[in-house]
Amino acid sequence: MRRQNGNYIYNQNGKKYLDLTMGWCVGNFGWNNLEIKTRVQKFDGPDYVSPDYIYKPWTELAQRLARVAPGRLKKSFRSTGGTESVELALQAAMRFTERSKIISLEDAYHGDSLAALSIGSPDLGKWYRNHLSAYRIKPPLDEQSAERVEKRLSKRDIAAVIMEPIICNRGVMIPDQVFMTMLQASCRKHGTLLIIDEVATGFWRTGKLFGTEHFDIEPDILCLGKAITGGFAPMGAMLATGEVAEALSEEDSYYSTYGRHPRSVEAALATLDYIERNEDFLKTNIREMGNYLVDQISTLNFKSSPTIRMKGLAIGVGFKDEDYGEKIVDHAKNKGLLISEGENGFSLFPALTIDRKAIDEAVDILQECV
Ligand SMILES: Cc1ncc(COP(=O)(O)O)c(C=O)c1O
Repeated sequence: MRRQNGNYIYNQNGKKYLDLTMGWCVGNFGWNNLEIKTRVQKFDGPDYVSPDYIYKPWTELAQRLARVAPGRLKKSFRSTGGTESVELALQAAMRFTERSKIISLEDAYHGDSLAALSIGSPDLGKWYRNHLSAYRIKPPLDEQSAERVEKRLSKRDIAAVIMEPIICNRGVMIPDQVFMTMLQASCRKHGTLLIIDEVATGFWRTGKLFGTEHFDIEPDILCLGKAITGGFAPMGAMLATGEVAEALSEEDSYYSTYGRHPRSVEAALATLDYIERNEDFLKTNIREMGNYLVDQISTLNFKSSPTIRMKGLAIGVGFKDEDYGEKIVDHAKNKGLLISEGENGFSLFPALTIDRKAIDEAVDILQECV
């Protein structure tokens, strides 16, 4: 790839692609977003700050993240990306609860470390021993499913339940409110922490700053990454409540050489500033463009009628024929449209700044591919 702009990326040969994946929930605010980019380019701070030293802009960022995060999350821990945030979250939960087993959603994805693979889809971690996961939650995420989780939690040996609030990695699966309410209550009752992985859903992807806000819940730990810098630098963060943070002793201070690189911190601060300045626009655009995109997709002549799931600008389109989605994704790529393979179909994660013109262009290409 050679360059990017707005909704488009261009490959080495100059071929133009309309990007409805945005690096899989990274470039939420459009590629080459000038407000963020200019700040990062003008950055005149230190090249590097050792994790042993205080770096004030990080302190500011950590406090701002905790302020805007849902519930009682108080402290932010530095990390270089989503996988490391999840790793920190699992370690924090084990340390706090003095338990070691984890419950996750069946076929979830939480990153590529050994810990993340062992709680993720067995397809991805099949070479490694699955030593962390005690139980996989089976969809649909409804009352019955929550009852099964409660039963497993009642053994009181589970450190944490981890899940995405809206499961982007499973074709935008949306849990029932009752599932989330019961899950939180069961976790509290049995001394298990609730880790919400917002690596993909964070920063307005689902129409709220965090996907957690769609439900009336308060996670004990939140994992962030991807759009935290709008794609301008690598970064992640793990946020914890005061009690969980306090339980982590000095030697567990999570040394991370590049965990809060000055340039990444600047990119994240610039992203938060952009979000604050443009919040009204983002809210309205996500709602209007999400509805418009789904309306347009519904008019396409698919060979069988699809199920469409949407939260904000996270959209999953599923078919009974498992291979059909893959064919559409390949075909669309050849025609200059980037969409992502999703659960039995395809998923769309367009820029939150997308407009009708780009959606019309995407839908015209899709119509040729279905
Ligand atoms: C929900 C979720 N968690 C964690 C990760 C891992 O993040 P990273 O690739 O930044 O390590 C991903 C990556 O796609 C993700 O979607």
